[in-house]
Amino acid sequence: APVEATNCGSPETLPSGANITKFVCPPLRPSPYNLPDYSQRTLRERPAAHCVDEVYIGKYKKAMRLMRALPTEDPHSLASQAAIHCAYCDSAYEMVGFPNFKMQVHNNWLFFPFHRWYLYFFEKILGKLIEDDTFALPYWNWDAGKPVPALFKDRDSPLYDKLRNEKHLLLPSVDLNYSKRNDSPEGDALTKCNNKIMHTQMVTGSKTPKLFFGCDYRAGDNLKGKGAGAIENQPHTQIHMWTGDPNQRYGEDMGRFYSAGRDPLFYSHHANVDRMWNIWKTLPGRNRKDIKDPDWLNSSFIFYDENKKLVTVNVGDCVDTKRMGYTYEDVEIPWLKFKP
Ligand code: C2O
Repeated sequence: APVEATNCGSPETLPSGANITKFVCPPLRPSPYNLPDYSQRTLRERPAAHCVDEVYIGKYKKAMRLMRALPTEDPHSLASQAAIHCAYCDSAYEMVGFPNFKMQVHNNWLFFPFHRWYLYFFEKILGKLIEDDTFALPYWNWDAGKPVPALFKDRDSPLYDKLRNEKHLLLPSVDLNYSKRNDSPEGDALTKCNNKIMHTQMVTGSKTPKLFFGCDYRAGDNLKGKGAGAIENQPHTQIHMWTGDPNQRYGEDMGRFYSAGRDPLFYSHHANVDRMWNIWKTLPGRNRKDIKDPDWLNSSFIFYDENKKLVTVNVGDCVDTKRMGYTYEDVEIPWLKFKP
């Protein structure tokens, strides 16, 4: 059976001493979300974050300023939005039919669809705050080695977050193989290493849906023996670690599930993860298709929509971003041509 969320309680896997105040956690099973018909509208185009102009940055800053100004308990506040990630990623939701099993959207096939829906509503809420339903989140194309995009680095901007690795903010390129223990290569060596990782994770290492999306995960399953898909494993996780503040106990904000959504950069990191799903389906190979298993397609999550209505969404409705009203700006993809 599919995994469906019900009864939200306190998160089970919060690290001890996690700095968390109020937890916004809707305890209902709301009615299904009706995806608007976007077929007659212009698609929202998510831009590459390093290419955006001042007009765009102005809009995003305004939207984030308004979001940060909302009272914490408002479901649209940044704190509440970040708590959604905490709830699904630190096991706060029970599974329908299995009250002793808590839901987890990482390390299994729910990873891509959960984060897609999460960003979908986050984007719609920002658009609502500035009364612009064409607003689209910028994506951080770390797959091309891009560093933290400039718009997130200005200390006076609402897009800034104090809890980051200050040293890494100054680097000209991200390290997709980052680990605390080893020094990062530099220059051409780093570019080569990044391209090699992307090529492995997207091309040679994810020829089947299982390799790309991760292990199946059904009602009543626990995570033992499950596993993440190629991109979730690397570089998704390394980028979280690379971005978070090493001086915080748990690498907050980006370095830990419960706090990651507090950094606006999170949503651009995940926009690029989401973009990888679209790109993966365009690569050559017969098996690069969405999963057909009804347990995946019927798994569901709960969100507040842009009108603060609680809704249930399912995986089947999110496999096509055009149906969800958005697409990604095309930019060069250096790892496509990589020769091992
Ligand atoms: Cu829910 Cu990047 O993690």
